[in-house]
Amino acid sequence: MRLRKKGWAKLELEKEPKVIFSSLDHKGQWKELFGNSDPIHLELGCGRGRFINQLAFTNTNINYIALDVYDELLVHVLRRANENQLNNIRVIPINIKNIGDLFEQDEIEKIYINFCTPWPKKKHHKRRLTHPNFLRLYQTFLKEDAEIWFKTDDDLLFTDSLEYFKEAGFKELYRTYDLHQSDFQGNSITEYEEKFSSQSIKIKFVRVRNSSNRARYHV
Ligand SMILES: C[S@@+](CC[C@H](N)C(=O)[O-])C[C@H]1O[C@@H](n2cnc3c(N)ncnc32)[C@H](O)[C@@H]1O
Repeated sequence: MRLRKKGWAKLELEKEPKVIFSSLDHKGQWKELFGNSDPIHLELGCGRGRFINQLAFTNTNINYIALDVYDELLVHVLRRANENQLNNIRVIPINIKNIGDLFEQDEIEKIYINFCTPWPKKKHHKRRLTHPNFLRLYQTFLKEDAEIWFKTDDDLLFTDSLEYFKEAGFKELYRTYDLHQSDFQGNSITEYEEKFSSQSIKIKFVRVRNSSNRARYHV
């Protein structure tokens, strides 16, 4: 998704207490920032935020952080959160490649990655948000039994990602190649998901659990 940086969006975000610019300051202190000890879930590359707002509305006992690189998209996440008076959602404008500095080990219990850029050329695979380099970064702040839920329209990205998860030591819990026809309950539809499924493209989905890498970071 290509968007030109627009100053108006940054100005709107700057007025908003739900937007965290100085995110480094909160490492290890996100519970204090939310004012409770509820679990914290992330969505990486949230776009306009239909998905995360729906979850935050339904699950008031979970705190959600929406991350995207584009201010122009995050503005919509916030407008929706404010319309619904949601207090369990925060927004961070950031490139995910810098996510490693934001959270302390064990601070995050779940990550959602929905329709991330597939980067089909081999020389660009390292930019995929499911690439093992990213997964190892996420493992520096995930709880040991934390989950990643990953959805995509892209067959090749999906096949490769299944291998990436395995390589990084995640245990697969559920997989479907056609989410909307599967027995999976409680799916929340994203903007891109709606677009792809209206074109009859099947949605691929996998849930994995962070299982075996703890030792690596504690030796
Ligand atoms: C194809 S859109 C999907 C948006 C939304 N998740 C959905 O399913 O409707 C991918 C999103 O990821 C964001 N994105 C891609 N790479 C990113 C990165 N490295 N850091 C932060 N956001 C990124 C884009 O700005 C865009 O909003």
